[in-house]
Amino acid sequence: MNTPIVILNYKTYLESSGKKALELAYALESASEESGITMVASPQVADIYRIKEKTSLPIFAQHIDPITPGGHTGSNLIETLVEAGISGSLINHSENRMKLADIDDVVQLCKAHNIESCVCTNNIATSKAIATFNPDAVAVEPPELIGTGIPVSQAQPEVVEDSVNEVKSINKDIKVLCGAGISTGDDMRAAMDLGADGVLLASGIVKAENPKNALLDLVSKL
Ligand code: G3P
Repeated sequence: MNTPIVILNYKTYLESSGKKALELAYALESASEESGITMVASPQVADIYRIKEKTSLPIFAQHIDPITPGGHTGSNLIETLVEAGISGSLINHSENRMKLADIDDVVQLCKAHNIESCVCTNNIATSKAIATFNPDAVAVEPPELIGTGIPVSQAQPEVVEDSVNEVKSINKDIKVLCGAGISTGDDMRAAMDLGADGVLLASGIVKAENPKNALLDLVSKL
């Protein structure tokens, strides 16, 4: 995982679904090329292949189920997602929380399939607990700030800084990202100054009038 890194979670906004998912991917690709900063798209499952076909962006799934091939109707199977083009996945996002044992299973599945795992956490204690699973990255996001436009890196700097310290004390190679309310260059700069390796964000870019310009602003102070 090259850092600093920006992971854009498309969630299920209409502005980032279907044909618009591809337009957003073009904005990400072009902002990444112009800035030299690694940017990752995390679209809905149905849009992964469409983005893989048309861009060279790294793509993360939003969720992988802890299953093996067989009878699991409605589930996201890692083998299919890898064939569709993902190179990693978010795991345990606040909007799709998982049991502890299932998080561990999916981190291990990602290792077995040589893709990157980014486990979301909601506070310092869960960041520390998840670090013991040795994912590639932990992304700490206080749920109460998600979608508010109030940046975690400025509103709760201690959550970012202490998560970085706790995670790195367990394994210094695990990247620590932060998310919730991040949208501007100042927000990302503040995150990096607290020791983060990057950001995980959504609404500030997905709902921006011009997502490419918003992305360029996001990384303008690095
Ligand atoms: O996964 C990103 C996230 O939950 C933060 O959302 O809209 O506050 O950037 P947002």
